[in-house]
Amino acid sequence: MGESRVLSRAEALQLEPGWRHACHVLLCAPCPGRLRGRVPLRHAVLMQMRFDGLLGFPGGFVEPRDGSLEAGLSRELREELGPGAAALSLAEGDYLGARCAETPRRLVAHFYAKRLSLEQLRALENGAPRAEEHGLEVLGLVRVPLHTLRDGVRGLPTFLSNRFAGCAREQLLEALRVLRLVPEAELRRADAASRKRL
Ligand code: GTP
Ligand code: MN
Ligand code: MN
Ligand code: MN
Ligand code: MN
Repeated sequence: MGESRVLSRAEALQLEPGWRHACHVLLCAPCPGRLRGRVPLRHAVLMQMRFDGLLGFPGGFVEPRDGSLEAGLSRELREELGPGAAALSLAEGDYLGARCAETPRRLVAHFYAKRLSLEQLRALENGAPRAEEHGLEVLGLVRVPLHTLRDGVRGLPTFLSNRFAGCAREQLLEALRVLRLVPEAELRRADAASRKRL
């Protein structure tokens, strides 16, 4: 996706029919563990390695037959995460925002976030290999490292140096900030450190 522009849900829903709509979601859970007994993991945040080698969030295109954004998202989550995703019940209250881009084609990316218990998130991870799209659209779920190690590079900055689908990188940074999953100053440093290495 080229340059993306932030817009409201209402604005996005009023765009002409030539625009396609996609919905993706950040699923997270508090994660009390410490790496090497020292570095706090803070939260488990799920992304996926996609068939195209890019990282992205679970979700996908909303189709006309879906009837609503949330119904489209729920269908995509069942396809990509398996039947266990049916319990997620994403709603308008979980909406974080939308971004649109003209290139490569007109696409509005709607973004959601949902907090789960660690048990719920682990159940999804365990069920994901049985999803119909496992090994096809989705090559595997990954947890996002939220910590930055002492060298200031490994951890979140290195993760952010990967390539992402659409505006998934912007969505990730925005959600980590808004949901307060990473302290803001640390997030800015991680973003800057990753850009130096791009
Ligand atoms: P198909 O069923 O094969 O069409 O895939 P899908 O419906 O699962 O669609 P996909 O998840 O690939 O997303 C649809 C569009 O959004 C594509 O243009 C992607 O490049 C883009 N995209 C994919 N993942 C993300 C993401 O995490 N965030 C954003 N903003 N865009 C994404
Ligand atoms: Mn899909
Ligand atoms: Mn998808
Ligand atoms: Mn699809
Ligand atoms: Mn598909």
